[in-house]
Amino acid sequence: MDLDRLIQDRIRDVPDYPKPGVLFKDITPLLADHVAFAGVVDAVVNHYGRGTVDKIVGIEARGFILAAPIAYHFGAGFVPVRKKGKLPSETLQATYDLEYGTETIEMHVDAFGPGERVLIVDDVLATGGTARAAADLVSRGGGEVVGLSVLMELSFLHGRDKLGNLDVHSLVTV
Ligand code: PRP
Repeated sequence: MDLDRLIQDRIRDVPDYPKPGVLFKDITPLLADHVAFAGVVDAVVNHYGRGTVDKIVGIEARGFILAAPIAYHFGAGFVPVRKKGKLPSETLQATYDLEYGTETIEMHVDAFGPGERVLIVDDVLATGGTARAAADLVSRGGGEVVGLSVLMELSFLHGRDKLGNLDVHSLVTV
């Protein structure tokens, strides 16, 4: 099975989770399959090439699972972007709109050296609010955003429209 089909096969649709009417994309079967998991990590590293980035930013929570092995295989450092109140030292904050209410994410203010090249990694690009806010945090923190890599893009939510000319790499588009 090629990687594209393997990934699609290992992402489970869960209807009405976390609330009625939502079709949740569950990546736990993919993570549990070492061939699929390794294939995803290798595909991201091969797309950009080792030596092209200095830091990988992972977005809480599922983004962490993908970002950490990707950072290792890039030979890059790992930086967490977390929901408000979870990081211990001084942070930068970015707030964005959800369907109902707002969300605030944070990153340590000293996460990057000047001009470090940064790839942002997450599992899903949906409305793009999270990725937009993360990219803004990286820029404010002195990093140079090389791109955003996601396992899955929900294209019907038009997340790319929020991301301007940011390079977006998605392994699967739904
Ligand atoms: C999900 C997903 C992305 C984000 C994408 O995270 O992992 O980070 O939503 O949505 P957007 O493009 O509409 O902003 P979630 O907020 O569910 O957090 P979790 O991974 O901690 O459950």
